[in-house]
Amino acid sequence: MIITHLHPQRRKIVTFDDGSKSLFWDEIGESYHSSQGSIEESKYVFIYNGLDTILEKRVGTSISDTDDTHVNTETINILEYGFGTGLNLILTLNRLIDASQTLLYPKKTLEINYESMDLYPLTEKEYTSLDYEKLSPYYIPIHKAPWNKTFTLAIPNKLILNNYSTIKVNIKKTLCDIRDFKGKLESVDLIYFDAFSPSNQPELWSPEIIYNAADNLKHGGLFTTYSARGILKTSLREKGLIVKRLKGFGKKHHMVNAYKN
Ligand SMILES: C[S@@+](CC[C@H](N)C(=O)[O-])C[C@H]1O[C@@H](n2cnc3c(N)ncnc32)[C@H](O)[C@@H]1O
Repeated sequence: MIITHLHPQRRKIVTFDDGSKSLFWDEIGESYHSSQGSIEESKYVFIYNGLDTILEKRVGTSISDTDDTHVNTETINILEYGFGTGLNLILTLNRLIDASQTLLYPKKTLEINYESMDLYPLTEKEYTSLDYEKLSPYYIPIHKAPWNKTFTLAIPNKLILNNYSTIKVNIKKTLCDIRDFKGKLESVDLIYFDAFSPSNQPELWSPEIIYNAADNLKHGGLFTTYSARGILKTSLREKGLIVKRLKGFGKKHHMVNAYKN
């Protein structure tokens, strides 16, 4: 059955065996994250098998020199389907702060444009009950920031042990139905596709939505998601993406990475 509209009052906070928290939506019968660990799942699927792949590809490819006076800017555009708790965003920020010590070059600015969409924002009571505040000083400000407006976080140097790198993050939370998202043709380096599962929300995994996501990727861009459902892989291949099946998180057999040549 396709549920066209969900009711946020039917969500509740859950705590998993590893102590991490998430939201469970009984209308859908699914939690926002794996019951084997919300934080660990997000890290595994979207950070280790998503962001890190893009960061590693950039090493050694972008800086032209080490001229002291010249500051280069490296830009990474990330598009997320399903903002939810904001966990993927704060883990992305944390990873970038770590990466600035090892992967980026001195005298470089890393500019991240992170756009994420959702139709059902969390209430303050919900987002403050998840214990994610302890993961990032930016968690609450990100939730409090208005929707449909770009805001910028300038990550202070004292948080970045390498004094020279600067990270500027432009964030836009777009309030919209994934089915209506118009797209950002060939401008995205990395897609986090994090809708509820294809069994429970098949309408968000339709060929049209996946084709549109593929169109949004730049050449060399990466689409990453926790699912490896057949219809998803077929749609990605139909758009010419190279689909790689990776080991899934926890008990899940597989997840997908798909590259645009
Ligand atoms: C698996 S959760 C996302 C988890 C999120 N990335 C996180 O880190 O917490 C799926 C999300 O899709 C959103 N959603 C469900 N139906 C939607 C729709 N039709 N359009 C936009 N967002 C939708 C839900 O509100 C929920 O936030």
